Amino acid sequence: MNRYAVFGQPIAHSLSPRIHAAFGAQFGIAIDYRAIEAGRETFAATLEAFARDGGRGANVTLPLKEDAVVLCDALSDRARRCGSVNTLLREGERWAGDSTDGVGLLRDLARHGIDARGLRVLLLGAGGAARAAAFAFLDAGARELVVTNRTAARAQALAHVLGPPARTCAWDALRHQAAFDLVVNATSAGHAGDAFDWPLAAGATPAACYDLSYGKAARPFLAAARAAHARAMHDGLGMLVEQAAESFERWHGVRPETTPVHEQVRAVLDARG
Ligand code: ATR
Repeated sequence: MNRYAVFGQPIAHSLSPRIHAAFGAQFGIAIDYRAIEAGRETFAATLEAFARDGGRGANVTLPLKEDAVVLCDALSDRARRCGSVNTLLREGERWAGDSTDGVGLLRDLARHGIDARGLRVLLLGAGGAARAAAFAFLDAGARELVVTNRTAARAQALAHVLGPPARTCAWDALRHQAAFDLVVNATSAGHAGDAFDWPLAAGATPAACYDLSYGKAARPFLAAARAAHARAMHDGLGMLVEQAAESFERWHGVRPETTPVHEQVRAVLDARG
């Protein structure tokens, strides 16, 4: 039987096996999709063993998305551009790498009625997750993309690669910025659970706020957005489902219906508290 998996660390609580099982059920396919724990030191060997055992496709999550680039024999344009792979496809004896995070984000925003075309977007963070989001916003035709990061040099490096209409702003200078249409948190700050220090001026109410994380990790940013009277707030659970649908289509050649799966994983997450 063809096998599929998600690799990462930690991985035990991954919702991906559940998501792919639900997609498979829509087509009457029993999907063998597991969560496999692998750290940066063990990833290459674990992936090789997986391929030997019939592995045909894999998702890759933290902290392996950049390591996966090196293990691929071929890369899609979007994976090369982002320097990040979240989807592996076995082609003969080779791994091909793709990145479905950016398109997953855009599809989830569309689900919430947000089209990035023409928007003024603030992106918080300049790591791997921010990079995929940044390219997606430029592809979608954002009018302006302001990148800010705790370590300013990383934001400058990212804006340099992106080119206009991306530019940077120092974190401390954000309070002088006019209101943004969309504020996206792509930092990993929420994982520590500390309160999020809202950086924008009191009067500069953003129309919408989106955290690429979900569950507890998204709470500090979304709580701060609520306190700042943002008109809409969304976590990244929908992006997880949408990037999974894109991976599923690459592997199985059919596009699953995501609406019922969004509801299903939201219920699972809520039950976890
Ligand atoms: P990922 O792949 O999730 O993007 P990463 O590449 O390690 O992970 O990037 C983490 C991002 O979160 C970075 O932008 C990081 O800022 P630095 O470049 O200054 O490290 C940001 N980040 C992490 N903890 C943070 C915190 N407590 N406050 C603000 N930004 C934080």
